[in-house]
Amino acid sequence: MTDTQVTIHRLGHQGDGIAPGPVFVPLTLPGEVVAGAVDGDRMEAPRIVTPSPDRVRAPCAHFRSCGGCSLMHASDGFVAGWKAQVIETALAAHDLTTEIRATATSPARSRRRATLAGRRTKKGALVGFHGRRSDVIVPLTECHVIAPDLFTLIPVLEEIVKLGGSRSATLSFALTLTETGVDCAVSGGKPLDGPLRAALPRFRDRITRLTWGDEPVYAEAVPRLCFGPVAVAPPPGAFLQATAEGEAALRAAVAEGLTGAARIADLFAGCGTFALPLATHAPVHAVEGDESLTAALSQAARHAQGLRPVTTETRDLFRRPLLPEELAKFDGVVIDPPRAGAEAQTRALAEARVPRIAMVSCNPVTFARDAALLTQAGYRLNWVQPVDQFRWSPHVELAASLSLPHLSAN
Ligand SMILES: C[S@@+](CC[C@H](N)C(=O)[O-])C[C@H]1O[C@@H](n2cnc3c(N)ncnc32)[C@H](O)[C@@H]1O
Repeated sequence: MTDTQVTIHRLGHQGDGIAPGPVFVPLTLPGEVVAGAVDGDRMEAPRIVTPSPDRVRAPCAHFRSCGGCSLMHASDGFVAGWKAQVIETALAAHDLTTEIRATATSPARSRRRATLAGRRTKKGALVGFHGRRSDVIVPLTECHVIAPDLFTLIPVLEEIVKLGGSRSATLSFALTLTETGVDCAVSGGKPLDGPLRAALPRFRDRITRLTWGDEPVYAEAVPRLCFGPVAVAPPPGAFLQATAEGEAALRAAVAEGLTGAARIADLFAGCGTFALPLATHAPVHAVEGDESLTAALSQAARHAQGLRPVTTETRDLFRRPLLPEELAKFDGVVIDPPRAGAEAQTRALAEARVPRIAMVSCNPVTFARDAALLTQAGYRLNWVQPVDQFRWSPHVELAASLSLPHLSAN
C-alpha cells in the first residue's frame, strides 16, 4: 500500500481525526498534516508530518496501545475546548445557542468507578483495559485515569482471575471506590461453585464487597457513598458519577439551576446523587427505573437527619413518563437520563410548564434534541456547564439550566 498524505479537518465523536474522504485517523488533531497507508476509510498508523501546536507528549506509557484514553496527545486546553464545541455543534443542529461555560475537568487519577477486563493466560492472568479497537487486554504498569486505590488492586484482581476465570472468556470487574473500600462486581467468570465461594473471601482485606454475577460472595462492610450530607449504601454495580469532582460540578450546576424551587422532582434519580443534597432545602420526589437504586435512596433518606421529605417511586420513565398533571405539583425538576435521552418525559415537562428544569446529560446529541423540545415550548436555555469526568476520552457530559422566561436565569 502506498502512503497517502492528508490534512485533519476535525475530530469525530470517537476522538479520531477526520480528513476529507472521509479518512479516519486516530491520535491526530485538527490542522495536522499526516501520512500513511489508508485501508478502507482508516489510516491506522499515521506519521505526523506537521504537528498541531496543541499536540503534547502523552503522559502515559500505554497510550498508543490502551483503549482507555484517546485524547492524551492533546493539551488540556484543547480537550476542554473541543468538548465545549461538541455541545455547541449539537445545539446548533437545533438552532440553539447559549452561554457555554468553561469545562470543569476532573483531575488525573480521580476515576472512582471503572470497569477492567481480566483473562487467564498461559503464565497466569492479565487484568487491564481493552486495547484500542481490539479485544486484547493491555497490561498496565501505570494509569493516569483511575484512582490509585483502584490501580493498586490489579494484582488482587489477577489472583481472582486465576481462581475464577478461563482462557476462553473475559472477566469484567466493575469497581467502585467507596468510603468504606472497594466494591467489586465480577461478571463473565466460572460458575460460583463451593470451592470458588470458599476461596474468594481471602480478598476481604482489599475488596470490601464482592459480588459474582448476581450472587453476593461477601460484604466485609457495607459500601458507603456520601451525597452531600447523606450517606447511601449503594447496591452492587450501582450507577455513580465517575469522579467526586465531576459529581460536585454537576451537583453545583443542578442546585444553581433549581435555585428558588420549593417542590422538586428528580427524574432518573439513581441512588440519590442530586435528590438527597437537594432535600436539604426542599421536598424531593425521586423517580428511578431500578428498584434496587430506589430502595437505597429511600433507606438513606429515612436514616438522614434534617432532610425535607423525600419520596421515591420505581417507574420506567421511557414507557410511563410522569404525566403533565403529575408534574404540576413541582416547580423544579432535575432530569438525568441515560444516553438515549428522555424524549417522552421531556414532552410531558414542556406541556406541564414546570418553571425550572436542570438537565444533566452524557450525550450532547440527545440533550440538544430534548432541550429543543423545551425551547420550542417557550423555555429559555440559560447556560450549559460542560463537565469532563472521563478525562482524555471523547465522552462529553454536561448540566444545563432551562426556565420559563418570566423567571430570572439561574
Ligand atoms: C445517568 S444515570 C443518572 C443517575 C443519577 N441521577 C446520578 O447522578 O447518580 C441514569 C439513571 O437512569 C436510570 N434509568 C435508565 N433507564 C430508565 C428508565 N427507562 N426509567 C427510569 N430510569 C431509568 C438508570 O438506572 C440510572 O440510574
